[in-house]
Amino acid sequence: MKEQNKPIGIFDSGVGGSSIWKEIITLLPSEDTVFLADSKYAPYGKRSKKEILELSIKNTEKLLEFDCKIIVVACNTATTNAIKELRSSYNIPFIGIEPAIKPAAIHTKTNKVGVLATKGTLSSELFAKTSDLYAQNIEVIEVIGTGLVELIEDGKIESTEMYDLLHSYIQPLIEKNIDYLVLGCTHYPYLIPILKNILPDNVTIIDSGEAVARQTKAILTQHQLLNPVSDRSSYHRLYSNATIDTLKEIIKPTLSNYSAEKLDF
Ligand code: DGL
Repeated sequence: MKEQNKPIGIFDSGVGGSSIWKEIITLLPSEDTVFLADSKYAPYGKRSKKEILELSIKNTEKLLEFDCKIIVVACNTATTNAIKELRSSYNIPFIGIEPAIKPAAIHTKTNKVGVLATKGTLSSELFAKTSDLYAQNIEVIEVIGTGLVELIEDGKIESTEMYDLLHSYIQPLIEKNIDYLVLGCTHYPYLIPILKNILPDNVTIIDSGEAVARQTKAILTQHQLLNPVSDRSSYHRLYSNATIDTLKEIIKPTLSNYSAEKLDF
């Protein structure tokens, strides 16, 4: 198969990366995609760097079996812990995602920014570097979203449990007068409707999904890997190695050109 006709590969520790997948298929409607939700091993946030790297390699190998032309690591925890090693081990472009501290640091008026992410992301070297680089003159208040990924993986987004847990994480940030909340986990965009109920109107939520899609397009263009047929009908294959029901429910598909199945990987 010609390189340009190959699919874009995307993986996450679970169903959350589908928030990135949606941005990619919206921006690049002619591209085929393969999305892997590694839900069997979620959450990654509690795992060691070594484990996260091993799981990221396993997912990469699977996407290479599907002959993907680029790999989007749609997981902040995997990006911040493993993308450097992935890039040096494989001869294929990788796109990653990190908490978007830069735009929050540029625009904050209260000089206080909240970051909600997993333990694995917040304790990573890459996050510390990015934070040092962009947030020197502001206060970054980090909150570990313990339990949020698990509830999303269990299909409990709209539960009282979720509301109460989120409220307990967000209330202290409101009291500290943040005006930006950075979502540092690709599962969290699915919590935006609840977050909007909890946060006052002056707090802006930032997630990096659209930026990742734009970066994917830019790198495909740079490597001359964009599918040249602009009006082709694309096809999307979505897989989970746990139950497929959560993934099907969360993507609430309005499209017909896709399949969602359980797969061992
Ligand atoms: N979606 C993953 C991320 O962006 C969730 C991590 C986890 O499984 O703990 O970090």
